[in-house]
Amino acid sequence: MSVVELLTERAPQHDLTRVVTSLADADPYGIDVQLTLYLCYELHYRGFADVDDGWEWNAGLLHLRGRLEELFLHAVRSDVGEIDADATAAAELDGLCVEPVGGTGLSYHLRDEGTWTQMREYFAHRSLYHLKEGDPHAWTIPRLTGQAKASFVAVEFDEFGGGKGARLHQQLFADLMSAADLDPSYLGYLADVPAESLAVVNLMSMFGLHRRLRGSSVGHFAATEVTSPPGSRRMAQALERLGAPSRCRDFYLEHVEADAVHEQVVRTDVVGDLVAREPQLDHDVVFGIRAFGVVEDRLADHLMACWRDGRSSLRSPLS
Ligand SMILES: [Fe+2]
Ligand SMILES: [Fe+2]
Repeated sequence: MSVVELLTERAPQHDLTRVVTSLADADPYGIDVQLTLYLCYELHYRGFADVDDGWEWNAGLLHLRGRLEELFLHAVRSDVGEIDADATAAAELDGLCVEPVGGTGLSYHLRDEGTWTQMREYFAHRSLYHLKEGDPHAWTIPRLTGQAKASFVAVEFDEFGGGKGARLHQQLFADLMSAADLDPSYLGYLADVPAESLAVVNLMSMFGLHRRLRGSSVGHFAATEVTSPPGSRRMAQALERLGAPSRCRDFYLEHVEADAVHEQVVRTDVVGDLVAREPQLDHDVVFGIRAFGVVEDRLADHLMACWRDGRSSLRSPLS
């Protein structure tokens, strides 16, 4: 029985029965693993209208989730590879800040020659994350102390609209989706995006939900903030070139400005304070930063390969 079928049933009470699935030949980055993991994690966020919330802490399902996480984490660790003994989070973040002259990649493609169809596909892929932006990293807050915690929350406060519901970044992205004539509903494209898009969100859910991975969650958060201003600037330029509705540009312009400030706060006051306080986490932060790069690169490679072949990058093309 698949997890989707299982979740249509009532969650059994006090039941430790394992959810039996063979993962022997499972591809850690494949759609079966990534979608099942996504469904398991979603129970901790907003859940599903027709799924019993009791599944969230069902031991049998958590056992399966643990096995999927092990598989996924192992794959990401081997893609990241060995981390040199003298690697530091500070040096890693410095490296991320260097923008190559004549850079290539997804946001450059969209800026220079992407089509409106490709842009709408990109929005659909990203909707899984941006419609819950800030939430996966928020799991990390109770695991921090002192200045790192205060500054982490200060950045998250902006992600959550600085007290204004209409300015929640999640809402700004929903506005972007509507303006692009796409479905703005939460999880609206869950069944349409490929495993690569799900892996991007699953990685941050996994980091956020495990205390032992808190250093990597902070690293992931830092990498997100540090890479956001230049990437968002290219997206804003792409949307301007395409004559896209202003509400599409607003989301990215907000990130060009806000994340330039966040970048500094995150480097010094979040990462700097965390590793000063818990030096043993330095390599975990580095791993989080590099793991972010691994899943982002996989998604970018998928999109570019599909578009080069002239086909849709979604599992079901947009209408
Ligand atoms: Fe944001
Ligand atoms: Fe930000």
